[in-house]
Amino acid sequence: MPNQSPSHHHNPSQSQYATVSLAPMMDWSDRHCRFFWRLLTKQSLLYTEMVTTGALLHGDRSRFLDFNPEEQPLAVQLGGSNPQALAECAKMAEDWGYTEVNLNCGCPSDRVQEGKIGAILMAEPELVAECVNAMSNACSIPITVKHRIGIDEQDDYPAMESFVRTVSSANCDTFIVHARKAWLKGLSPKQNREVPPLKYEHVFALKKALPHLTIVINGGITSIEQSQNLLQHVDGVMIGREAYNNPYFLAQIDQQLYQSSIAAPSRDDVLHAFTDYCKTEIDKGNRLHHMSRHILGLYLGEYGARVFRRFVTERACKPDAQAEILLAAREAMNRSKPV
Ligand SMILES: Cc1cc2nc3c(=O)[nH]c(=O)nc-3n(C[C@H](O)[C@H](O)[C@H](O)COP(=O)(O)O)c2cc1C
Repeated sequence: MPNQSPSHHHNPSQSQYATVSLAPMMDWSDRHCRFFWRLLTKQSLLYTEMVTTGALLHGDRSRFLDFNPEEQPLAVQLGGSNPQALAECAKMAEDWGYTEVNLNCGCPSDRVQEGKIGAILMAEPELVAECVNAMSNACSIPITVKHRIGIDEQDDYPAMESFVRTVSSANCDTFIVHARKAWLKGLSPKQNREVPPLKYEHVFALKKALPHLTIVINGGITSIEQSQNLLQHVDGVMIGREAYNNPYFLAQIDQQLYQSSIAAPSRDDVLHAFTDYCKTEIDKGNRLHHMSRHILGLYLGEYGARVFRRFVTERACKPDAQAEILLAAREAMNRSKPV
């Protein structure tokens, strides 16, 4: 039986962006971080940190939803399980200009489980289908789901396939699969990203079983070559921690994974552009530290990378710190070179 159906991308607005995405990460993928990532890759789809329906419906929407137009294409990730609330938030996201709305069914943290948010929802496929249905009726941008290969004692593969089948019947055709189980009790969120083993083959099997769906694989991806290999089996790769810790490898994505003919920027190009961004943001009242903390890994692997990191960390947190500190840190790197 052929694995690929000829026209499985029935919703081009989704699959167009699926090839590479950078993961939603609380406290990390905020708008400053995303602006920085966008300097490295123009093509990849970016995700916000998770925002709960409660925060959007009762809190300061602008704080959670505002973004710089340069960040597009940009998806917002929602946390919640009330169909009506999620529908309202999906509409809000569309009005704010987002490209996609993603529902978090993968986050294992205890705090999150209390509000029935995240991975615990994998135990309730019908409820997730209801949520997705309400969301997609409320707006016209694509609704996608990010989930795990399973939770707790669930059967290894069948429960996930059945979850995806049920949810896809509700107008969702893109699934981002973090290729490890979530243990809902006894592991911290951090352990839940390291301890359960990665099982890529379960994600490949999902794509084979449901070839008409757009399947994006996530977890442990650290290079372009590994991404190319994974893209032989699935439609997209989502990269999390490596994008944050070693951001410069993202500069290869557009050429190598999207066949762009535009030359990759150098690290210094990126630093200069980000410095300009920081100037603008500081003029608007933002603190340098809130932006510069995301770029500490820019020179990873280069001579003086630690000098850069330390220089920025030590000086950027002063309340009146100016953007030029970033350029001074670059010069300090050069001075640290033996002659
Ligand atoms: C600091 C941090 C925060 C995260 N926050 C979220 C989140 O808000 N929503 C989500 O779906 N996943 C979250 N994750 C999980 C990542 O999106 C991703 O699934 C996971 O890190 C595995 O990918 P990686 O090995 O490429 O990092 C977070 C991960 C980290 C490290």
